[in-house]
Amino acid sequence: MTEHAVTDKAITENATTEPVTEPATADTTGAPAAGRQGARLHDPSVRGFASDNYAGVHPEVLQALAAANDGHQVSYGEDVYTARLQEVMAGHFGPGVEVFPVFNGTGANVLSLQSVLPRWGAVVCARTAHINMDENGAPERVGGMKLLTVPAPDGKLTPELIDREAWGWGDEHRAQPLAVSITQTTELGTCYTPAEVRAIADHVHARGMKLHMDGARLANAAAHLELPLRAFTSDAGVDVLSFGGTKNGMMYGEAVVALHPEATSGLLYLRKMNMQLASKMRFISAQFLALLEGDLWLRSARHANAMASRLRAGVEGIDAVRPTQATESNGVFAVLPAGAADRLRESFRFYDWDEAAGEVRWMCGFDTTEADVDAFLAAIRRELG
Ligand SMILES: Cc1ncc(COP(=O)(O)O)c(C=O)c1O
Repeated sequence: MTEHAVTDKAITENATTEPVTEPATADTTGAPAAGRQGARLHDPSVRGFASDNYAGVHPEVLQALAAANDGHQVSYGEDVYTARLQEVMAGHFGPGVEVFPVFNGTGANVLSLQSVLPRWGAVVCARTAHINMDENGAPERVGGMKLLTVPAPDGKLTPELIDREAWGWGDEHRAQPLAVSITQTTELGTCYTPAEVRAIADHVHARGMKLHMDGARLANAAAHLELPLRAFTSDAGVDVLSFGGTKNGMMYGEAVVALHPEATSGLLYLRKMNMQLASKMRFISAQFLALLEGDLWLRSARHANAMASRLRAGVEGIDAVRPTQATESNGVFAVLPAGAADRLRESFRFYDWDEAAGEVRWMCGFDTTEADVDAFLAAIRRELG
């Protein structure tokens, strides 16, 4: 089910120790040869559909990192890039939002949820939510909250599904359901409309709960919906957002965005306490600026979504491939006949989603090319067509 379910054998086998820079001069350090002078250890021609985290860094983001690199800047977020990011995020999400750059998505989720919950709080989420399936219990162990999960066959919660676990307030025997977490786009590649988010937000708020959105792929949602980011976040009633940068082309970095800061508390302290306060924060902020000041975030997300649509259209004509979800972002989910996934994986890496059901997940990223998709489709047709 997770990205880690398959061994790294394919990658290791594809590794090469051939240096791509000038050959190293005589070694005086005792370092192994392949580790000297920035030698490339992998074969960049090896492509796959395993994860949007497999891509490198977008060249425009790398340029921004280099531009931010000279000279000194105050550490721990008191730098000019982080100040500018605050303004740029306000442009996307509305005046008054508060931005907290962090290292990764798990950290963003844990501290977002902590910021809207008391010590006795619980979070209603889909069983397939990343916070439930893929964070090694960090919300529970690190965040100290209970997750109350409900089955959501397409990854999307609804007010009715939320009500399966949103009950028992005032009962000291029950962890108090005081927040709901939804993922946009979902772990299954589906996308909430602004009206769906609004209906959840109204439902949640009417019960005194708060709404968190895991936006690891928020840009892909905007590209799919063809709407500004705020239309299905701040304007639709989301209180706190984990905003993804990594899958959108950054080297690393996400941000907690308090969309309605009065609904949150303690984010400044929680970030440090959760070990998510970067001393050289300018480099996270500069990467976000590279994405968000212009349209790089949208260009990249549109491209990734378009590659998934191309892949989906291609498999539609292959009877043995049975898509299981709507393709509304950058992933395609499908059931394959027994044994086919392993044979295809000999040339293209990708993960099982539900091994028992024979369901696989194919992800595209900003760097997926039409040629990648077409080569993969040709392999699928050879195997199953
Ligand atoms: C839905 C979702 N949320 C959050 C994350 C962020 O996780 P990480 O802690 O690996 O940055 C991911 C990454 O796979 C994700 O798919």
